Amino acid sequence: MAALQRRKVTVIGAGNVGATTAQRIAESGLADVVLIDIVEGLPQGKGLDLAEAAPVVGHDARIVGTNNYDDTANSDVIVVTSGIARKPGMSRDDLLNTNAGIVRSVVTESAKRSPDAIIVVVTNPLDAMCHVALKASGFPKHRVIGMAGTLDSARYRTFIAAEAGVSVEDVRAFVLGGHGDTMVPLPRYSSIGGIPLPEFLSAERIEAIVKRTRSGGAEIVELLKTGSAYYAPAAATFEVVESILLDRRRLIPCAALLEGEYGISGLYVGVPIVLGASGIEKIVEITLTVDEAAAFRRSADAVKELVDLL
Ligand code: APR
Repeated sequence: MAALQRRKVTVIGAGNVGATTAQRIAESGLADVVLIDIVEGLPQGKGLDLAEAAPVVGHDARIVGTNNYDDTANSDVIVVTSGIARKPGMSRDDLLNTNAGIVRSVVTESAKRSPDAIIVVVTNPLDAMCHVALKASGFPKHRVIGMAGTLDSARYRTFIAAEAGVSVEDVRAFVLGGHGDTMVPLPRYSSIGGIPLPEFLSAERIEAIVKRTRSGGAEIVELLKTGSAYYAPAAATFEVVESILLDRRRLIPCAALLEGEYGISGLYVGVPIVLGASGIEKIVEITLTVDEAAAFRRSADAVKELVDLL
C-alpha cells in the first residue's frame, strides 16, 4: 500500500497572525506546517512550542520552524503573513512599499520551491499585496488569493448576532470590495437562518453595524495600543486554507483578480468565490443595486490608487 502523505502548508511570518494560523492548521490535523520567518530563533521557538502542544491536543501534524526556504519545498498552500505594521511617523505609502518588498522576496523564494502551491495572502494592505504576490510568483490568477472578506464577514456576523440576540452560526452575511475603509457590507444579501436581516433589525441598527464592520480592524488596534488583531484573522485564514485542502468548495468572499467580472479589469478586489482544491474555482457575480455598485466601484478605485503607487 502506498504511504499516505500528509499535506504541507508553509506559513511565512511567525508573528501573531502567522503563528496563530500555524496553530489552527496543525491542530486541525489537516497538514504538516512549516513556519518561516526572517528572525532567527522565532519560528524555531514557536514551532517547537506548538509541537509540544500536540500530545495534549492530540494530533500528529509535524510543525517545523525555520529560516531556510528549502524546508518549504513542495508545499500545497503558502500563507503569506510576513510584513511590518505601520509605525508612528510612517505614511501609508511607506508601509505599502516596505511590505511590497517583503512580500515580493518571500513569495519569490517560496514559489520557486513549491511551483504548484496555492498562495493565500494575508499581509496588508491586502489587495495591493495580492498584486505583488501574483507577479512575484508567476502563478495563474486562480492560485493567488487574498484573505480579507472572510475576516470582514466574520466581524459583520459577530455584530449582527449580538444585536439580534441569536447564534453567530445562523448569521449569513458577506462583504464586498477592498479590505479597508471602503469595504461594502451587503445587508440585502444577509440573513439570519435564511430570514432577511431587515426582519430583525431596523435600518439604523444595520447602518451602525455596517459602520462598525468597516472599522473593525481599527477598533482592535485602538484597544490593543500595540499590534493588531490576530485571533479572528487567523481563524479566517484557516477557513480559506481548509476549503482548499479539503476541496470543500466553500462560497466565501476573498480577494480575487477580476478580469471583466463586476465591470472591473486587472484588479484584486473582494468578491464571493467558490474555493476548492485548485484555488479559485469560480468568481460569483451577484446583482447589485445602483448604490451598491457605486460603493463597490469606490472601493475598487481605492484599491487601484494603492496598486498604482507600487
Ligand atoms: N521574511 C520573513 N518574515 C518576515 C520578513 C521577511 N522578509 N519581514 C518581516 N517578517 C516577519 C516578522 O519578523 C514578524 O515575525 O513577519 C512577522 C509579522 O508578524 P507581526 O509583526 O506579529 O504581525 P501580525 O500581527 O502577525 O500581522 C501580519 O497580517 O493581518 C495582517 O496587517 C497584518 O500585515 C500584517 C500581517
